[in-house]
Amino acid sequence: MTTIRPLAAGNWKMNGLTASVAEIAAIAEAAAREAGGADVLICPPATLISAACSAAAGRIAIGGQDCHARASGAHTGDISAEQLKDAGASFAIVGHSERRADHGESDEVVRAKAEGALRAGLTAIVCVGETHLQRESGQTLAVVGAQLAGSLPHGGKATNLVVAYEPVWAIGTGLTPTLADVAEVHNFIRHELIDLLPGEGAAVRILYGGSVKPANAAELMAVENVNGALVGGASLTAKDFLGIASVYK
Ligand code: PGA
Repeated sequence: MTTIRPLAAGNWKMNGLTASVAEIAAIAEAAAREAGGADVLICPPATLISAACSAAAGRIAIGGQDCHARASGAHTGDISAEQLKDAGASFAIVGHSERRADHGESDEVVRAKAEGALRAGLTAIVCVGETHLQRESGQTLAVVGAQLAGSLPHGGKATNLVVAYEPVWAIGTGLTPTLADVAEVHNFIRHELIDLLPGEGAAVRILYGGSVKPANAAELMAVENVNGALVGGASLTAKDFLGIASVYK
């Protein structure tokens, strides 16, 4: 069995002003003590990446929530992976379901973004997950399998790629799949990764995301092939996020 160091990751989405950097400082200060068994990452909005990196002082990682596929050019409002890296980020989330839905990002677009992240020397966190309708109609594994086949970057390795399984219907709703359902999908993703990335797939981290809270983190993180969490709402305060990350104390 490969030993995989877990990743406790927070996705702040479109939340956070300068004053919120104090939460990142508090997380960074406590990370080694409270979550020493995991890598810890916060992905604040791009406006805060530089300040977040200063506050983190290398004690936790800082990441972006999206990146453009290209390194530079005439793309008003977009941010390249190179620019995230320059601001101090070491990770970029790509293909979050909110980006897929709000910005019409296809698997092809997500793959190009993930390849942009790798090109810049960032670790890409590629998100996949089914909608409620897809789960209800028994398509979960087919949907997740197609997203993996279509979105994973060429050149993905255990050291520069993370997959996040986030059922769309579990994000921000307080709902989570049963532990058996989480296990089924994570085991499926592991098999797909081994097929798609020979020699690497067995060690790529697979995060669970969707309504992870301090109260359910321990049981979710104990599921086979769950190698950490991608946390939205509960990552906005140091107290709640550390309550999750401390599963890896
Ligand atoms: P949530 O979001 O923890 O607020 O459900 C998770 C995510 O979208 O990454």
